[in-house]
Amino acid sequence: MGTPTNLLSDSADLYWVHVALLIVCGLLSLISFIVQSLKPAKYGKFARPDVKNPYVTSASETTSLTAVDTSSAADLPAMAAGGTSGSAAPKEEGGFPARLSFFISDFVFVIPVWAVATFVIYDKHQRFADISAALIVYWILWATHFIQRGVIHPLILRYSMRNVGWDIFLPMMPVNALFTFINASFLATTVFPSDYESDPRFAIGIIVFVLGFIINRWADWKLRSLRADGSREYRVPTGGLYEYVSCPNYLGEGLEWTGYLIGVWNWAALVWLLFCLSTFVPRARQNHAFYRHTFPDYPKQRKALIPFVY
Ligand SMILES: NC(=O)c1ccc[n+]([C@@H]2O[C@H](COP(=O)([O-])OP(=O)(O)OC[C@H]3O[C@@H](n4cnc5c(N)ncnc54)[C@H](OP(=O)(O)O)[C@@H]3O)[C@@H](O)[C@H]2O)c1
Repeated sequence: MGTPTNLLSDSADLYWVHVALLIVCGLLSLISFIVQSLKPAKYGKFARPDVKNPYVTSASETTSLTAVDTSSAADLPAMAAGGTSGSAAPKEEGGFPARLSFFISDFVFVIPVWAVATFVIYDKHQRFADISAALIVYWILWATHFIQRGVIHPLILRYSMRNVGWDIFLPMMPVNALFTFINASFLATTVFPSDYESDPRFAIGIIVFVLGFIINRWADWKLRSLRADGSREYRVPTGGLYEYVSCPNYLGEGLEWTGYLIGVWNWAALVWLLFCLSTFVPRARQNHAFYRHTFPDYPKQRKALIPFVY
């Protein structure tokens, strides 16, 4: 049983360009992790002036990274935060429409790049007559995630803010396009062994990806159901994986990209997983701290991202 090989190393120029791109992607992941660990990205609960969170200790946004101050939670409703008055939107200053921003950054800047880059690069290096099932399957998995994320997710989620800040929206477009391009390039130049469909990595990758996708969709749907009454409050999610972690949606997406990496077995998939984790790890910790800060009865055994571990 062989292992997937890559044609990029056949050309010194292409090889070094891709090494440089991988280094850029790795550095972006590191920067993203440091920046987001120091301060929550300003969207959702961490952008709402009317919602208290443990990272704002004064009106001027002093950040506190360690202590979870539950003393100030006494004046908050036990099971809801973010206003109890229903659908009144918090005052927003500028920004770009949130739903449109996710459509542009996660669909427009991903799917055309994915489709064109894989087609053109594959055509340059390999013959369509020889295309492998592994390449087709993993191509579809990537596309499925982003069609869901860029089209369905923005249509159905109940965001509490109409807008997202320019500082969140603008970087997402080039970053998504870059990671999509490098993954397209690596996938299109991968030569999977003819018997790869019987390699455990092929099946395990698909199973882990699909499991993660189901968890991610279920978890986001559960959050949506918390606002069935049209409110903009934050409530304690319960049931299923929410009994174990505060952010099963991130856990699910992390599993998706872990499965993708196992299946395609290349460096681009690894840096993409690292980039996603650079958001999920700090954001899950911050969401978890928010819940504990806001709801004094928040279940003590619940972890942030990984059941029983973190
Ligand atoms: N690949 C990546 O790098 C990456 C990065 C970030 C996110 N994502 C994916 O994008 C999706 C959404 O991520 P996110 O960071 O926006 O997730 P999130 O903070 O959990 O929010 C998702 C939605 O649920 C609402 N919500 C969250 N907690 C709630 C609660 N306790 N009660 C009621 N409503 C609640 C949010 O409202 P608000 O509008 O009030 O916040 C928002 O509309 C996830 O599937 C995630 O995997 C991917």
